[in-house]
Amino acid sequence: MRLVRLAAAAWLMLAAGPVLAQTTDATQQSDVAQAAGINAVASATSPDGQLALNLTVNGEGRVGYAVSRAGQPVIGESHLGFLFSDSRQLLRNMALQSATKSSKDESWTQPWGEWRTVRDNHNELVATFAEKDKLRRTMRVRFRIFDNAVAFRYELPEQPNLKTANIVEELTQFRIVEQGEAWWAPAFESNREEYLYNHSPVAGIGIGQTPLTMRTRSGLHLSIHEAALIDYSGMNVASGGGGLLKAALTPSSSGPKVVRDTPFETPWRVILIAPDAPALYHANTVFLNLNEPNKLGDVSWVKPRKYMGIWWGMHLDTQTWNSGPKHGATTAYAKRMIDFAARHGFSGLLVEGWNKGWDGDWFATGDDFSFTEAYPDFDIAEVTRYGRGKGVRLIGHHETSANIVNYERQLPAALDLYRRLGVDSVKTGYVADAGGVQALGPDGRRVFEWHEGQAMSRHHLKVVTEAAKRRIAVNPHEPIKDTGLRRTYPNWISREGQRGMEYNAWAEPKNPPRYDTELLFTRMLSGPMDFTPGILSLTGRGNTPIPSTLARQLAYYVTIYSPIQMAADLPENYGANMAPFQFIKDVAVDWDDTRMLAGSVGDYAVIARKERGKANWFLGGITDEEARTMTVPLSFLQTGRRYRAEIYRDGDDADFRTNPRSIVIERRVVRSTDSLPVRLAAGGGIAVRFVPLGR
Ligand code: NOJ
Ligand code: CA
Repeated sequence: MRLVRLAAAAWLMLAAGPVLAQTTDATQQSDVAQAAGINAVASATSPDGQLALNLTVNGEGRVGYAVSRAGQPVIGESHLGFLFSDSRQLLRNMALQSATKSSKDESWTQPWGEWRTVRDNHNELVATFAEKDKLRRTMRVRFRIFDNAVAFRYELPEQPNLKTANIVEELTQFRIVEQGEAWWAPAFESNREEYLYNHSPVAGIGIGQTPLTMRTRSGLHLSIHEAALIDYSGMNVASGGGGLLKAALTPSSSGPKVVRDTPFETPWRVILIAPDAPALYHANTVFLNLNEPNKLGDVSWVKPRKYMGIWWGMHLDTQTWNSGPKHGATTAYAKRMIDFAARHGFSGLLVEGWNKGWDGDWFATGDDFSFTEAYPDFDIAEVTRYGRGKGVRLIGHHETSANIVNYERQLPAALDLYRRLGVDSVKTGYVADAGGVQALGPDGRRVFEWHEGQAMSRHHLKVVTEAAKRRIAVNPHEPIKDTGLRRTYPNWISREGQRGMEYNAWAEPKNPPRYDTELLFTRMLSGPMDFTPGILSLTGRGNTPIPSTLARQLAYYVTIYSPIQMAADLPENYGANMAPFQFIKDVAVDWDDTRMLAGSVGDYAVIARKERGKANWFLGGITDEEARTMTVPLSFLQTGRRYRAEIYRDGDDADFRTNPRSIVIERRVVRSTDSLPVRLAAGGGIAVRFVPLGR
């Protein structure tokens, strides 16, 4: 007991200053550890004292950790280690050599984001272990304990008996103590990240992608993910039965899943731990805090914006990427689109299918793509010139079919062309089945890799850094997962990485309403998504219905975060829906503040966001297949100020199945002391803009 109090007092002292370090009493043991029968060799707590981490070494010399919250065990003793292809596993026979602690409480500013200011407040414990037998290999584990997360990474120092780590598997465990339910998208399936979520008991997880979200029986919300995925393979999570989850790294066709020379460090393994669903969403800043600060210097050239595109027509199959009578990317059509975009205040136009290579089976090989030659009916210089005159930038497009051999060969010239033409952002694409990435193997021959393997973590950073040299922002589709690297490289502006709106054009099944409310607490914890909302026609290919009300299409702009948001529908569909279209024209894309006001995983969410640098607030809400009524206090508004609330809500008779187009657009004057009644239809939504009025 005495030791615990001493430790708490030490934290108080440390929290006051900047980063300080001290050596711990390595025999320190918390009450919780003792109660759980855990023999801790070192311990640490979160700044608020709620989360406690205990580091263990068992009788076999296996290193483990355990986490409790408010005295209740959350993660039971879970082991750490590595399997190598050319050396004995790093797992047993370890002894703690040293443990040091430090604290940090700092705030930093995002160039763009959901919050202008992000606070990084954590306690750190760094433990070094060494093998007791003759190999004497050493491994450091750095833990950071936030009020709403525990994160750790391995650091393998340079050493004679581990010059190169040929990692076959990372033996990281997460032992979930309480029973619970989980939302997870399956890993290693052909459509990469793009799967509806399974909702199963934790014990029923197969192999899931991260973020993988859980709610335990007592209501605790957990999510496992990673931060700073650099030159390493993406982590999935596999069930080992009961509550045991284990890291399952993405394979490589070259043998080991990861090959790295020491010294190096792995990505952070992160467990968000929050009392409820909104708090889980707010915990997403942890991934940013675990990444390095901006390395690009002045990034004022990275522009959050709303854009339109020559895009939805291809997904409807009324236009084509390839050449021929239905070719979408023609100079004439692009100019008409630029006119429309400019008239309605959009500053970007994505044009897909402008470059040679789409004829034939483009997703089969990707060898035919040229990233510098346009089809003859698309004059790229003329289109960019015309757009510039109207304040509409061309948004570049590089579909690679996941052939990164072909793409990387052309990358400098392709980006130089955009730079010359004033194109300041590019959407990239990696359409190929999972495991179908064509890369160069170690011997220079072509090999097939996974979208989230080590080869792709290198590739994406190469594209992002090459683009940054030319002041170009990058938005990959079929990407590698987001692990917060946008903090370090703020030109990594958005990405896809789940089922976007395109699935509502042609997929079977389409995205059911429940999916969006799961997405917010899984994929969206990791970072922005180029979801491409705003299909006001509410119809996909062949006039098939989209499972959404009209108001829900507007709500996406606030609920599904991205600093670049597409108005994805055809101009004629906006022309036919000018009243709801007004919200898409008005909505902001960059924020000072974000607050999830209400939410439940897979059920509903209501989010308020304050426009960056302005006094306007926006609110968006969505529900699953169930209609819901709630009352939302407007206490986020500035006190004493009156606001005009421009409300776009489901009509009283709206239902995504029977009456999706029923919408009410109304205005009210409100204050921070008021509450907003929110009635969401089945598959519905709400979108509100709050504009301050004179005092
Ligand atoms: C898949 C992307 O998600 C989509 O937006 C794009 O239109 C196609 N690939 C073609 O590049
Ligand atoms: Ca896609």
